[in-house]
Parts: sequence; C-alpha cells; structure tokens
Amino acid sequence: MPCAGRCDDYIPILKGAQVLIGLAADNLQPKLSPLPVLNPGGIEECVLAEIRKPNRSNILGYRQTGGYDSLIRMLDLMRPSDVVQTVKDSQLTGRGGAGFPTGLKWETVGKESRQPKTVVCNADEGEPGCFKDRAILDHDPHVVIEGMLIAGYAAGATQGFIYLRYEYPETFGILSQAVDEAEEAGFLGDGILGSDFSFQIYIRRGAGAYICGEESSLLNSLEGKRPFPRNRPPYPVTHGYQDLPTIVNNVETLASVPPILRYGAGWYRGLGLNGHAGTKVISLSGDIQRPGNYEVPIGFSLSTLLYDWAGGPEIGRSIQAVTMAGISGGFLAGADLDITLDDPCIKAKGSYLGSGGIIVFDDRRNMVEVAESAMSFFAEESCGKCFPCRIGTQRLSERLSGQAPVQAAAEWRKEVEDISQTMRATSACGLGTAASLITESLVRYFSDQVDRHLSSIVPPDK
Ligand SMILES: Cc1cc2nc3c(=O)[nH]c(=O)nc-3n(C[C@H](O)[C@H](O)[C@H](O)COP(=O)(O)O)c2cc1C
Repeated sequence: MPCAGRCDDYIPILKGAQVLIGLAADNLQPKLSPLPVLNPGGIEECVLAEIRKPNRSNILGYRQTGGYDSLIRMLDLMRPSDVVQTVKDSQLTGRGGAGFPTGLKWETVGKESRQPKTVVCNADEGEPGCFKDRAILDHDPHVVIEGMLIAGYAAGATQGFIYLRYEYPETFGILSQAVDEAEEAGFLGDGILGSDFSFQIYIRRGAGAYICGEESSLLNSLEGKRPFPRNRPPYPVTHGYQDLPTIVNNVETLASVPPILRYGAGWYRGLGLNGHAGTKVISLSGDIQRPGNYEVPIGFSLSTLLYDWAGGPEIGRSIQAVTMAGISGGFLAGADLDITLDDPCIKAKGSYLGSGGIIVFDDRRNMVEVAESAMSFFAEESCGKCFPCRIGTQRLSERLSGQAPVQAAAEWRKEVEDISQTMRATSACGLGTAASLITESLVRYFSDQVDRHLSSIVPPDK
C-alpha cells in the first residue's frame, strides 16, 4: 500500500531518506535496507554486533556466528523461570516505544495458566523516521526468531506471529525463508531439538496503517478486526490474542535477548553509561551528513552522536531542532539538545526516547511547516475511534497550515494550547497524546516562528 498522506513532504521523506528506505530516486522499486555502518566510536554493541558478518541472514551464516547457541543452551540448562530472571536482571526494557520492563512482561504471561499463549513480534514500524527494525529483519532475521523462541519458552507460549509492516515486501520474503530454514533445522515445530518445547511462527503482513503498531490495535488486526485500540485494562499479558495471555514485543527488544542469554545479564547492563542498562538502536535521518542506524549505549551524548558519529549538518549550517521517538516525542531544540540518550534525561525536557527515531532539522527549516507536516501525518493516521485524537489532529493541522479562520494571535495560541492539552489528557492511545507534543514543543521552542506564521494569517488590524 502506498504511504498515506504526502510522501514528498518533510516528515515522510527528508534528505537521505531515499537511500535509507531503499528507494533510488530514479527507480521507485524498494530494495534491501542498507547494512548499519560500524559505529565510529568503537563502542561495544549488542543488537548490531553480528549483523555485518557475511551470510548472517541465512541459517548457515547465523549458526557460524553463534546463532541458536543461546536457544540450545537454554533448552539444555535453564528452566523458564531462569530465563525470566536473566531478562529481568538485564534490565532490558521494550524498544518499541513504551519502555516496559521485558522480563516483567514475560513473567506475567508465564504466570497465566490459560492456553494457548502467544508471542507477537511487533514489526509494524510505522513511525516516521524509524527504520531500525527493517534493517534488523533484512540482515539478521534469525536473531528475531531465536528471541521469539526464548520468549515463548520463558512464558510457556506455543505460537508466535511476526506482524510485519505491509510496506516491507522484501522483508516478508527474507522472513519467510528464515522461518522455513529454522523449521527444517528443527529449531521450530514440535519437540524442538528433542525437548518437550514446541513452538510455531506465522508471518502476517500488517494492514498498512500506523495505528496497527499500537499493540492492542495490532491484536485486533491479527484477529481480522478493525484495528481500533482496545480499552485497557485488561492488558495483552492476560487478555491478548484471542483474549488469551500474549507477549507483544518489538523487533529490537527480541533481538536483544539471544546476546543477553549468551553473555549474561551483567554484560548487557554494563553496556549502558552512567548507571543506565543496555543499548538502543537510533535511526538518524534528516539534515545530517551521515544518516543511518547507530547503536548507542543508553546514556550516550546526543551531540556526540550527531556531530562526531554522524558528521553534523552540512558545512555552514547549524542544527535547529531534532525530533525524538520518530516524531512522537515532538521537538527538542536550543539548550535542550545538550542531553544524554536515556529516558530520565529526555523526559525532564518533556519528550521521550521511544522507538529511537531522530530527525534532524537545520537552520533553513521552517519549523511551523515541519510541525504541520507531522500533524497532517497524525491526522491522516488517526484511527477515529476517540474524538480528541480524530478531531484534535484535524483542528491542529488547520491551525498550523493557516486554513482555520483566526481573529487574533492570542486566540490562536489559546486554541492550540487547549486542543493539545485535551488530546494529551483524554486520547485513547499514544497516537493522540504524542501528536500534542508536536504543537506543545513547537510553541515552546519556536515562538518567533509561530509569530511570523501568525502575522501572515491574522488580519492586520487585530
Ligand atoms: C500509535 C502507536 C504506534 C506504535 N507503533 C509501534 C510499532 O510500529 N512497533 C512497535 O514495536 N511498537 C509500536 N508501538 C508501541 C506498542 O504499542 C507496544 O508498546 C510495543 O510493541 C511493546 O513492545 P516492547 O515492550 O518490546 O517495546 C506503537 C504505539 C502507538 C501508540
């Protein structure tokens, strides 16, 4: 399905995006995503550590680089509770956006007795500015399968689904082949490697909408229903796929697990900086010289990533703002660019790390136009179930584009603040709450640009 909304605008496609998402300018046929480059800091990685090894995407290459060793060792030596404890000790948290502790999620599903239990790999990756899951799946599909198997064993689940973004057709082929290879090698199916653990994986193509990445909408979509978010509680851990206990984890979260079992919880924790645990893959795009996927320690300095690793903006330009969490974390700018990439630091600035997409805007960008582009994405993708999001995203788009009639600048500011606050407080899921961060951060950082925008739309005598 083609991308919804305006594919040639700031948010869907910025400089470098054609290369990043594998679309050559003269040939709009998608290709394989590029391999992440080795980080120039020589800092130890977890998720991307093996991805550049030759043939890693097929089972022979994967086995030659230690693949499925964690599974084999686990089936030999570990009880499900040992696996849960290791993942809890590692302090791994979800890499799909919400940052929920992974071990706790697995433990909760493990304690449920109703069967069958399910592991869902959330590979919907619809967030603008995020392209890390695609790179992992294209170049290292078996690590995700192995992560799902480990999750299944830990929680007593017998089936798994990979819910794959519709717009990743090549990835679908790669994953299908990997699942076939794993089945043939005896890593999937009944009585895996002679144990009493059985697990099947099915691949489902997503329904082509951003909301399908929200876990409860995803579960509805998997069940063939309209992808509206569910009311929670109950949560998927007790009432997930077909109302049964379900783990939903992001691709990167699952890809972190085989190395954690292999090298230990302490090793993973120690990869983080300043008391933070682990790493995060950041998808970096926009006005930056070397866009791409970079795995950084949690707690890493944003400016070291932007300037030392990714080359900074074009010569002669300066960085005006970045987005966080794709676009869901809104903007950071000015002195707030001096942060470390960990949630306590980013949340103190009113944003969050989320799924790790960062889009860079240099000093040429009109930030009101950027915000309008982001808001029109949210308006296009709002599922319409709850009216604060359905109507709020439309009303904010109209105010940002100048389409809404406005009598005075103060009135515009008041309305934008009211709508944003209402969306934040009352939207049914993270789409509506995230959209409000765009306008709130725009007004906070770019009051002068908002004034310029208003001076062009407010009648002169007001
Ligand atoms: C609108 C919206 C879209 C989302 N899209 C994704 C997505 O594409 N991939 C993903 O892993 N999580 C996405 N999430 C977060 C999921 O709801 C959920 O928190 C995550 O899949 C849980 O896995 P984790 O604990 O491993 O992060 C989205 C959330 C919202 C509100």
